[in-house]
Amino acid sequence: MKIVTCIAPVNIAVIKYWGKRDNELILPINDSISSTLDANQMCAKTTIMASPNFLDNKLWLNGQEENFDQPRLKNCLKEIKKRIYTDESKENIVNWNIHICSENNFPTAAGLASSAAGYACLVFALAKLYNIEGDISGLARRGSGSACRSIYGGWVKWCKGEAADGSDSLAVQLAPPSHWADMRVIILVVNESRKKHSSTNAMKTSMSTSTLLTTRAETIVPARISDMEAAIKAKDFAKFADLTMRDSNQFHAICLDTYPPCFYLNEVSRSIIEFVHEYNDFKESTQVAYTYDAGPNACLYTLENNVSELLAVIDEVFPTNAAREEYIKGIPVKTIQLS
Ligand code: PMV
Repeated sequence: MKIVTCIAPVNIAVIKYWGKRDNELILPINDSISSTLDANQMCAKTTIMASPNFLDNKLWLNGQEENFDQPRLKNCLKEIKKRIYTDESKENIVNWNIHICSENNFPTAAGLASSAAGYACLVFALAKLYNIEGDISGLARRGSGSACRSIYGGWVKWCKGEAADGSDSLAVQLAPPSHWADMRVIILVVNESRKKHSSTNAMKTSMSTSTLLTTRAETIVPARISDMEAAIKAKDFAKFADLTMRDSNQFHAICLDTYPPCFYLNEVSRSIIEFVHEYNDFKESTQVAYTYDAGPNACLYTLENNVSELLAVIDEVFPTNAAREEYIKGIPVKTIQLS
């Protein structure tokens, strides 16, 4: 029997991925950039056991047994098995059945990048189980596109690539977490329930119905990506925040331009957006930026010296019923449950 356990963190996109040019290979229509959060905070934890005595493959997700025959899991396994070095003289672990047990320490499928952490963790654990060397971001991509960015820490770019087989659609680290050591993320959990539109289905509908989507991918994102890379490199918070908020708003505009539309933001999400702009205006400088993925929960980026004042103001404006503070290393996160 062989057992491996790994953890992988969530990543939060600041230039969003939305739209696939190839659904099977999970190839995006634009580059994207994210930051990977601290591995000890919002993360997925996966244990994989392989044994010649297991009669079946099995999968448990957050304590619940799930169907193993899921297309994305099968794709990841198929691709991983192509990279396994097999020594014919030894008993081959690749022929053993496996039991996978994965859990998230945060709400699953509530637009908090749970699939990114989950698939990054799964692929990382499988790579360890089968001793696979080299870049594995392309393997994680086959599980969930954004998962490829959680393979690396710090600031990460997923290059969309040009090759039809997806061989150059990989994640690269732009800068380690230590580069912008005072960057902080505050997550405002507006709603923990599972999202109505899965990102896979919504992206497909956007591809076939939104006229804004290709304009964004072709004419707006390329310049935004290079501006964002420059802002991160220079640690220019005002520029970083401006690009982050505009890109989040544009992504949600595309969701609205999708037909039928996908509404991910709710009243509370919108009032957080207004609050951030009012707060920055009041301070006469940009101190905080919001971004939202496919869900109503807000991710706020700010710098360490603003955190305590910002939290005090958030506490006044939005009633909270729980707060979890864990500043460790990497890009630390604070999660606040809004009632
Ligand atoms: O990787 P998916 O299929 O869960 O898509 C994620 C898409 C967004 O989270 C909305 C944006 C992003 O770049 O992470």
